Amino acid sequence: MTPNDTTTQDGGAAAAEAHVRIFDTTLRDGEQAPGFSLDRRAKLRMAQALESLGVDVLEAGFPQASPDDFAAVAEIARTLVDTTVCGLSRCLPGDVDTTARALEKARRSRIHLFLSTSPLHREHKLGMSKAQVLDAAVAAIERAVGLCDEVEFSAEDALRTEPEFLAEIFSAAVAAGATTLNAPDTVGYTTPGEIAALFTWLRQHVVGAERVVFSSHCHDDLGLAVANSLAAIGAGARQVECTINGIGERAGNAALEEIVMALKVRGAYYGADTRIDTRRLVPTSRLLAQLTGQPVPRNKAIVGDNAFAHESGIHQHGMLKHRGTYEIMRPEDVGLAETRLVLGKHSGRHALRQRLAALGHVLEERAMDELFARFKTLADRKREVTDEDLEALALGEDPEA
Ligand code: KIV
Ligand code: ZN
Repeated sequence: MTPNDTTTQDGGAAAAEAHVRIFDTTLRDGEQAPGFSLDRRAKLRMAQALESLGVDVLEAGFPQASPDDFAAVAEIARTLVDTTVCGLSRCLPGDVDTTARALEKARRSRIHLFLSTSPLHREHKLGMSKAQVLDAAVAAIERAVGLCDEVEFSAEDALRTEPEFLAEIFSAAVAAGATTLNAPDTVGYTTPGEIAALFTWLRQHVVGAERVVFSSHCHDDLGLAVANSLAAIGAGARQVECTINGIGERAGNAALEEIVMALKVRGAYYGADTRIDTRRLVPTSRLLAQLTGQPVPRNKAIVGDNAFAHESGIHQHGMLKHRGTYEIMRPEDVGLAETRLVLGKHSGRHALRQRLAALGHVLEERAMDELFARFKTLADRKREVTDEDLEALALGEDPEA
């Protein structure tokens, strides 16, 4: 059974189309995180890379936040050709008008309106009643509809909102003209089972659900952002909001590259796919790391240095026989040239022999025994044995001399 089977069997709306829209918020939610800010030139470069990657919607910033954010959004809106450019906006008339002006030159524009809906946020952050929140959201959506091509409404802290109120405000949002309904897990609190149940329920209870796209926006406070996004997709979400390298507020947002590759590798299970050119994932991740000055952790899924590297002898032996033994995707599919068999203290003879042969050294058995022993002694002292070290070993020299 697939998640899509679940949503149709339990009486939910008809199984959704296969295309999952990738809404990239690297330049808004991602850039908001401490240590990740980008200047205007860097933002434009990143926006062009994201367009080449094939994101469907690019959230370029929050124009009301600062004159510089306004200028960056306007510049990106003027430059991009195929991608819908989006600006974030509070549900305030001034914000809506500013965001619309920043997006004026976009080929296709989206205003992304947000307002908190959870009891905690209503009482302590906004000091507003349910009715006031609903009225403010509807008024802002109605104002935005005439000023851009499409309107998205986000119920901030949706996963801690009463589901009945969520369905009520989403139904009102559809009636007012919103075409994307986003249920953010603003504080990374939900679990896969819970978010799947909520999306299934919303698709059954929002009036006009069949006319809109449901979207998920998950934060990673419990390390569940990608799992929760995939669960939402399984329950019918057809837009996911995510960032390159998973950057974002606190522990970050759902990582774009992880969601995209999960859908590619397990597409048959989810019955869904994206339009991302996956061969651009690693270059885009590296560009972001370079522009922000924040390195990607070695063990980061998909784009980390170790994602396609093997050191242990048993794994290397398996890989040399059939790459499917220890790899579920091909490095070239994410933009890497090849798998790396790293030579270190856990490596075995097979990988050593193969690397030596690649360097032009084919050794007799006895010479190989002797070189293998010297290799192990060296590997105990060094984390990684390089090609230069191997050349020295093969020539009978001391690599550390
Ligand atoms: O996490 C969140 O709730 C947000 C909204 C503005 C969509 O980033
Ligand atoms: Zn967010």
